[in-house]
Amino acid sequence: MRQFSESSITDAVLERFAACDDPRFKTVMTALVRHMHDFVREVGLTEAEWMAGIQFLTATGQTCTDKRQEFILLSDTLGVSMLVDAIHNRKPAGALESAVQGPYYWKGAPERPLGSNLAEGVKGEPAFYSGRVLTLDGTPVAGALLDVWSGDGEGNYDMQLPGQTEMLARGKLRTDADGRYRFRSIRPASYPVPTDGPVGAMLNRMGRHPYRPGHIHMIVSAPGFQTVTTQLFVSDDPYLDSDAVFGVKESLIIEFQRHEPGIAPTGEAMAVPFHTVEHDFVLCPVLEPALQD
Ligand code: BEZ
Ligand code: FE
Repeated sequence: MRQFSESSITDAVLERFAACDDPRFKTVMTALVRHMHDFVREVGLTEAEWMAGIQFLTATGQTCTDKRQEFILLSDTLGVSMLVDAIHNRKPAGALESAVQGPYYWKGAPERPLGSNLAEGVKGEPAFYSGRVLTLDGTPVAGALLDVWSGDGEGNYDMQLPGQTEMLARGKLRTDADGRYRFRSIRPASYPVPTDGPVGAMLNRMGRHPYRPGHIHMIVSAPGFQTVTTQLFVSDDPYLDSDAVFGVKESLIIEFQRHEPGIAPTGEAMAVPFHTVEHDFVLCPVLEPALQD
């Protein structure tokens, strides 16, 4: 057939995949074409809207650099990243759940002794984090690695601060023989995702705010266990119910207990108010290859 109608064009495109010898690629592309065609038919996409969409995606690509990934931000703000996460990181009850990595991970943070202050020179109220890494049956995991990073108490990551070339509020901690970890950092604050590109304009046009609730990121790993990239959220943050990237999970919301100036858990005398946070991380064993997706 040479000429196609509004309805027959979809099957005509799909028939052109007949010789594709990659079954998964064929499945993904078939569904993509079907959904795109149905979307165009459903909204009666105009030529001007089609062009606006092309220009938006072009601008999104042009905004990407080796330090900025506007397409991931687009995926995050449309809930696609957390949908992929939800499907592929299903966890049994009680196990540490995952959340998006976000754009501010900096590979190669130094390993620091337990109890270290990761936030020297960082603005914000001090917070003392502690807890254990455990197996599903409650056995402590010694030697588990926490790769931790957060913004400061005003919501800025080191890589966003003008002239800041050294890492701040980052570090790796290894659990002791009892599976315990402890470190000092700050109580993280809410902050907006980058809004100076096409995704920011899209959020604005949708009538959405760009804020993420205050959170601290970490990647928790141990030999024989599934690595989990996650975040812990401050329980009284006003943006918990409207995270711009849909990253919040109930099990990741934790309480920061506020203390007046006094003696911190490390024994040091604090001249300013500080917070304590206690949270255990439960890891799942690595799956047999046959059970992995
Ligand atoms: C973040 O938490 O750092 C983040 C995650 C997704 C998009 C933007 C920022
Ligand atoms: Fe973040």
